Amino acid sequence: MPTTTQTFENKTILITGGAGFIGSNLAFYFQEHHPKATVIVLDTFRNEERFSNGNLKSFGHFKNLLGFKGKILQGDITKDLGILESLDIDFIFHQAAISDTTVMDQGIMMQTNVNAFEDLLGLALRKNAVMVYASSAATYGNAPSPQRVGHEAPENVYGFSKLAMDNLARLWAAKTDLTIVGLRYFNVYGPREFYKQKTASMVVQLGHQILGGRAPRLFYGSDAIVRDFIYIEDVIQANILAATKGKSGVYNVGTGKPRSFQDIADILQQELGTNLGTDYFQNPYSAYQTHTEADISLTCKDLGYAPRFTLEQGIRAYVPEIKRLFESEVKGA
Ligand SMILES: NC(=O)c1ccc[n+]([C@@H]2O[C@H](COP(=O)([O-])OP(=O)(O)OC[C@H]3O[C@@H](n4cnc5c(N)ncnc54)[C@H](O)[C@@H]3O)[C@@H](O)[C@H]2O)c1
Repeated sequence: MPTTTQTFENKTILITGGAGFIGSNLAFYFQEHHPKATVIVLDTFRNEERFSNGNLKSFGHFKNLLGFKGKILQGDITKDLGILESLDIDFIFHQAAISDTTVMDQGIMMQTNVNAFEDLLGLALRKNAVMVYASSAATYGNAPSPQRVGHEAPENVYGFSKLAMDNLARLWAAKTDLTIVGLRYFNVYGPREFYKQKTASMVVQLGHQILGGRAPRLFYGSDAIVRDFIYIEDVIQANILAATKGKSGVYNVGTGKPRSFQDIADILQQELGTNLGTDYFQNPYSAYQTHTEADISLTCKDLGYAPRFTLEQGIRAYVPEIKRLFESEVKGA
């Protein structure tokens, strides 16, 4: 088995959605660790267009790529993939998507997340490129914990679209020699998520409430509402392993150790040296997931994945960036 340095040396890596949270972290990972690789980012970037839920149609932001020295292409995966045709591509890390789980427009969700993925699989085939793509824990909906590949029950069109991607991936892996790996991220948090606005993790949102001198706002009963929160560095680790093992499949990416929203608020207050209590309010949602927990046994066995960050360690690593963002982007905004 070649080392990761050998695997990526002098190779061309395409990152779709590279101006977004996870994609930009991947871009910087390769810039720092594999300087001899050519990294190409493709992203539609944001404009002023919004969905009916009031959120932006795409969250890509140039500030996520400040300091990135690779090639950046603006383009929409639903119509501009032709601009990639003349390039040599060895690896595709496909992160571009409608990442907002509350978008109700089923047509545009399926077109962006599913149709464009099939077009990218065609590109991977023509280039003989390894495909690692972002699936999601939303494929599980309210399926009982621990969530396990093969036991899905999506509750919204976002989760449905990601499950459709996984099904497509299996079909293509069976009929071609391509390596196609789907990673079902659970709740990811960490640097470069800020520009996702309301869809960014509660870690940064609660952090900024606390830094603003306010008690963190949580639903009543938040000590019993748990999620599998996963730090961005562990998500990057999973992507790198997925790209290098040469084994197609769909894998959960979490810690396997669910924690509560109350834990997040409490750890943040400890790290920030505050004692503001909690401002509880009524949960407005009738259907709400109260427990997610990734079964990561297959991910560990097949990919050699081992999460390195507990919630305490992830938040501690993230706090300086949460503070920097508060000073530069939140205060006085
Ligand atoms: N962050 C999480 O907790 C999480 C959890 C599960 C799955 N995911 C998945 O991981 C991937 C990355 O998520 P993220 O958190 O970085 O979200 P993000 O919104 O920050 O990144 C997605 C990027 O895709 C771009 N994009 C959207 N539509 C596009 C289009 N038509 N053409 C080209 N680019 C387009 C956006 O501009 C954005 O930069 C997504 O596929 C998302 O569904 C994320």
